[in-house]
Amino acid sequence: MADRPLRRFRPLIALAVAFGILAIALPGLAGTPYPQTTLEPHSEVARLIDRLLDDIVFWCVVIFVLVEGALVITVVRFRRRPGGPPPRAIHGNTPLEIMWTIIPAIILALIAVPTVKTIFRIQAVPKNALEVEVVGHQWWWEFRYPKLGIVTANELYVPAGRDIAFTLTSVDVIHSFWVPAFGGKRDVIPGRTNHMWFNAGATGVFPGQCTEYCGASHANMLFKVVAQPQADFDAWAAEQKAPVAPPDTLTLAARGLELYRGGLCVACHTIDGISYGTVGPNLNKVATRSTIAAGIYPNDPEHLRAWIKNAPARKPGSLMPYMNLSNPDVEALAAFLETRR
Ligand code: CUA
Repeated sequence: MADRPLRRFRPLIALAVAFGILAIALPGLAGTPYPQTTLEPHSEVARLIDRLLDDIVFWCVVIFVLVEGALVITVVRFRRRPGGPPPRAIHGNTPLEIMWTIIPAIILALIAVPTVKTIFRIQAVPKNALEVEVVGHQWWWEFRYPKLGIVTANELYVPAGRDIAFTLTSVDVIHSFWVPAFGGKRDVIPGRTNHMWFNAGATGVFPGQCTEYCGASHANMLFKVVAQPQADFDAWAAEQKAPVAPPDTLTLAARGLELYRGGLCVACHTIDGISYGTVGPNLNKVATRSTIAAGIYPNDPEHLRAWIKNAPARKPGSLMPYMNLSNPDVEALAAFLETRR
């Protein structure tokens, strides 16, 4: 009989233990290497959002402790005791009801004010920002730098510290552009132009990805942001603009160029002076990229050849078809693409 009251509180004890474990585990998780964490902001925009989250979580914890504390005290103190009197019936309590209507209204107002302020702050695109157009495709990202005359794919180079103003749209379905470290997340919608901005507060390589389900390879629609010092960014931009010499005649790459010109490639891809397709990624400087297939494979000889050979087998739903190319043709095409640097 002695253990009965304890048994009654078992669910409460379990809940307390669960919250205890969470409270110990969460701060630990924040410091661990999860590249897609939003808890380590690296831009002003991300910091504003993170601060808002911190404030709201803090006040939610305070409210949670007060409410749950009152509940636990009530449950324990006023529990039914054997032989005790039946509980007193209460029908309405006007001051209490007014109080528990007004208090949540005040709390919501206190949350709304900083939230709306933050929304206005992060919506205001700074002047003199570097313009980048983001175009979502199934399933890859096109990045255009209109002022610099550069078009690239899946690797977004930015000068660290500089404000970047994005205009975002899509050519097919709704995607969503997201770089966790830099905050924000903007839907990329066909027939509509959205805007966002951030500045990379640190140099490094930061992962990004599509966060709106967009079809078979939604999960394979990755990209990365390469944030560099201004001088390195300028060097990258100059490299992207530099003309590429055609391959020497009678080389494997020259044979690849002929195949490229005469094949299906030209319908979808752009290479300066050779083809003007826009369905697939611009390949003008494809050899300067570190990944292919929207960030899912390294851009090395083995993966490049496997991709040309049979893209749909490497990425479900890929719009680049299986073209039944012979191995020597794949070799030649890859050799040609490797000259595009
Ligand atoms: Cu694009 Cu999901």
